[in-house]
Amino acid sequence: MKFFVDTADVDAIAELNDLGMVDGVTTNPSLILKSGRDILEVTREICSIVSGPVSAEVVALKAEDMIAEGRKLAEIAPNIAVKVPLTWDGLKTCKVLSSEGKMVNVTLCFSANQALLAAKAGATFISPFIGRLDDINLDGLDLISDIREIYDNYGFDTQILAASIRTANHVTQCALIGADVMTAPPAVIKAMASHVLTDKGLDQFMKDWAKTGQKII
Ligand code: G3P
Repeated sequence: MKFFVDTADVDAIAELNDLGMVDGVTTNPSLILKSGRDILEVTREICSIVSGPVSAEVVALKAEDMIAEGRKLAEIAPNIAVKVPLTWDGLKTCKVLSSEGKMVNVTLCFSANQALLAAKAGATFISPFIGRLDDINLDGLDLISDIREIYDNYGFDTQILAASIRTANHVTQCALIGADVMTAPPAVIKAMASHVLTDKGLDQFMKDWAKTGQKII
């Protein structure tokens, strides 16, 4: 499973990228706001760090305007994936931009039917939002399973990009289901390294080591 980082925080991206943890990056208007930076400038900087797909989202609502914005975003770097919302106009935009050879990430997906439409429109990535379904007492992971089954039934090559991941367990479950990609905030990726028995075991090793009176260096 590929790991994308869901942030526009350049320092956090660089740290994880140095560890080989970053296969791509996803951003959205809320993350651009959080970064406090200009969208074109920060996206260009992210693309200079990461060679994999970097999603940059359009903000227009009409297809004609979305297409113009998408083309402008795609000029930033060859690894831009234009992110469009799963609306009818977003699907029209997806079809046009994917036909031009641009990567397209169709976002805000909350149903299997929406995912089916995105695949038909030539999406490179479909982004089902797990956490936001969980927030309304539905099961976001069920949606990932349904899309996996449907895409496999018909051989769609649109990649399932599991998004709105809130916990390390979401990552495990997405990997078990067979999501192609997961995107998570840096804190969730770091939390994957934590285990209470690792902490406990290390604590005991440190206590016993101190009793040996030895040094390695
Ligand atoms: O990739 C989409 C993601 O940014 C949404 O996450 O936690 O705001 O639902 P969240």
